[in-house]
Amino acid sequence: MSVTDVLVVGGGIAGLTAAIRVADLGHAVTVINRAESPQESNTRYAQGGIIWEDEFPESLAHDIDMAGDKIGGERASRILADEGGPFVASFLIDRLQVPFDRDSAGEIHRTAEAAHSRPRIIHVKDQTGAALQEALTREASRHPLIRIATSATAVDLITSTHHSRLRGAIYEQTAVLGAYVLSGDAVETMLASYTVLATGGLAALYAYSTNPEGARGDGFAMADRCGAHIVDMEYVQFHPTAFRREGCPAFLISEAVRGEGGILLNLAGERFMERYCPDLLELAPRDEVSRAVALEMRRTAAANVLLDLSPLRARGMDVSARFPGIHRTCLGMGVDIRTDSIPVAPAAHYTCGGIRVDGWGRSNLRNMYAVGEVSCTGLHGANRLASTSLLEGLVWGKRAAENICGNFEREDFARWEIPDWDITEVVAEPNLEWSAQMHARLREVMWENVGLVRSEETLGQAWREVSAMAIDVEEAYRHTRLTDLLVGLRNAVQAALLVITQARRNRGSRGCHYREDYPPAE
Ligand code: SIN
Repeated sequence: MSVTDVLVVGGGIAGLTAAIRVADLGHAVTVINRAESPQESNTRYAQGGIIWEDEFPESLAHDIDMAGDKIGGERASRILADEGGPFVASFLIDRLQVPFDRDSAGEIHRTAEAAHSRPRIIHVKDQTGAALQEALTREASRHPLIRIATSATAVDLITSTHHSRLRGAIYEQTAVLGAYVLSGDAVETMLASYTVLATGGLAALYAYSTNPEGARGDGFAMADRCGAHIVDMEYVQFHPTAFRREGCPAFLISEAVRGEGGILLNLAGERFMERYCPDLLELAPRDEVSRAVALEMRRTAAANVLLDLSPLRARGMDVSARFPGIHRTCLGMGVDIRTDSIPVAPAAHYTCGGIRVDGWGRSNLRNMYAVGEVSCTGLHGANRLASTSLLEGLVWGKRAAENICGNFEREDFARWEIPDWDITEVVAEPNLEWSAQMHARLREVMWENVGLVRSEETLGQAWREVSAMAIDVEEAYRHTRLTDLLVGLRNAVQAALLVITQARRNRGSRGCHYREDYPPAE
């Protein structure tokens, strides 16, 4: 058993920012990351960049609202627009010295992205996430009040209502008191006065995804099991341009490529966006571009469309220098972006919904905060504006830390009588092959039935199949020695059901939730 002031579950931009700010303010933090390396997180894979809008916050708030189909929370977009710019400057640029690209005059370069009314995305080539992750990990690792535990998987949150043996605890407001954490073969009781979930999203539950396998919905499922409010899960955002070639893994081709002038062509060489979004073309909001690509693929019976970089080259841009990560990865798959177009198709990318939190990252459960993609601050509405996610993680990570430390009360753990993890029902050894097969089947079901275009029929089909999987997985979970894979499978199935049931309940089409049986009003 261990005790800390604040437990942060997840080590990407939101979790590490929260940890650093809590430690700055004098409290001890433990960060757990299920990966072997503290450098691994979904943040690391972000390519395009992060918004730095220090001049026109109103225009940023307006763009966020428009991209989100005007259902997002105005308070959230004001917080992001007002606080984001100054915090990027003081924290990322001045303190962490993130090496953002600069122009010939030495100014930080700002690029354009879809649905932004002005260039405001700052970047480190096409590997912004990796640069941020490195800087944050370096800062957190040298902070004396921060402990980072790797290969540590949260199995379940510890709560007063579900785990305490104290008489009457079940009738009090649920308090989150830390987590049971799998490390090696043992499950440790990690008690914490405050718990911050920063586990990222669930896009890896789809057969085609831009996310690493860790984006499997752990945080949504753990929070759901304790009674957190989870909303807007139907709004799963699909990125229009992931690398797509038979036999090759999907891989993000940053929106910045279109921001710099890349155009989309069908296999006959036609610029089809002229028919779908004649005003904004390739820089229309992401949900519209993704659907246009999918419809064009269907219309032409093609497995992909093409992202043509010739306008960038015609301007004299050395595309391999501007996009070195994309260049390297494409080259490994037989595509040279200096001469070739890139075969692309949509892939699951971002979870707009999540654990409902307020402007400070507070959930409805006492002492549980959620920050970053696992949370729903209301910022994204029905569709996220490109490059807002890193900034949201940063701003809410900071705000959650400041709220915790400003109201800090140490929990009296002895009072709650929390038992250690119980393994008395464990009788079976893990079946890794079965777990991997179930994961693979889940991804197919989600892609086929809960993808860019859904209907009552496809959602019903997914609900029946995933509900049946949930029964088998829960049985296995109860009787099998735990592994990270099994914990993840259990969470994945539960998170998928959250998406399916919320998508089924929402009989309308808006932003990234498009129902064929309820098309949007013209
Ligand atoms: C990209 O580089 O296209 C991803 C940026 C984002 O999703 O915000």
